[in-house]
Amino acid sequence: MQIAIDGPASAGKSTVAKIIAHKLNFTYIDTGAMYRASTWIARENNIDYGDERGILTAIDQEKIEFRFKNGQQKIYAGNKDITQEIRTPDISANVSQVSALAGIREKMVSLQRQMAGEMNVVMDGRDIGTTVLPNAAVKIFLVASVHSRAERRMIDFKERGIKTNQSLEEIEHDISERDYKDSHRKISPLKKAQDAIEIDTTSMSVDQVVNVILSEIKKSQKKL
Ligand code: DC
Repeated sequence: MQIAIDGPASAGKSTVAKIIAHKLNFTYIDTGAMYRASTWIARENNIDYGDERGILTAIDQEKIEFRFKNGQQKIYAGNKDITQEIRTPDISANVSQVSALAGIREKMVSLQRQMAGEMNVVMDGRDIGTTVLPNAAVKIFLVASVHSRAERRMIDFKERGIKTNQSLEEIEHDISERDYKDSHRKISPLKKAQDAIEIDTTSMSVDQVVNVILSEIKKSQKKL
């Protein structure tokens, strides 16, 4: 079974996707982490963020994979755990450029489909319902105001122990810029799938969002 959760940056996708995957005993796949890992590999190898061929070659050398440690999902480039390093503002500022490259998307989408073909998944991203898993049993599109997403991002930085000098206004600016880039790129732009259920999480608690999604999953199972 495949559950697709899409939406803009910091709309709460990964928080709810992790809880739902845990409750259903499905595997959570964070596709944004794969594009972040590609960006990290480019930076580590001093490859220009627009150099598709160079980045693809480097990815072939340092395989991107998810591994599980004490029930926690970690992302690796080769043998290095980069779970924390891919969350820094520097990677966030450059990931839109890397994720807009056709060859990188092709490679990541193929890896994502392969994983979704092997196990029950809750997958979050931008193009899961539209492109990666067009036949997902349930498609969710999460949205929230830019202000509340910036607040959540700030809390997230604190919880992860990531130091930043960015003000709330600067984070809001970054988020708006990334929304624009993600939804205006040529290939697989951020877009709600026609058959996705849109949930505005601005004034909802995590539990409330989780419950709405779980009830949609139940409804879809009754239809089977
Ligand atoms: O969800 P995130 O912020 O970690 O995603 C990082 C970037 O990766 C985001 O700016 C857009 C891109 N992305 C994408 O293009 N397609 C996906 N399925 C997931 C993320």
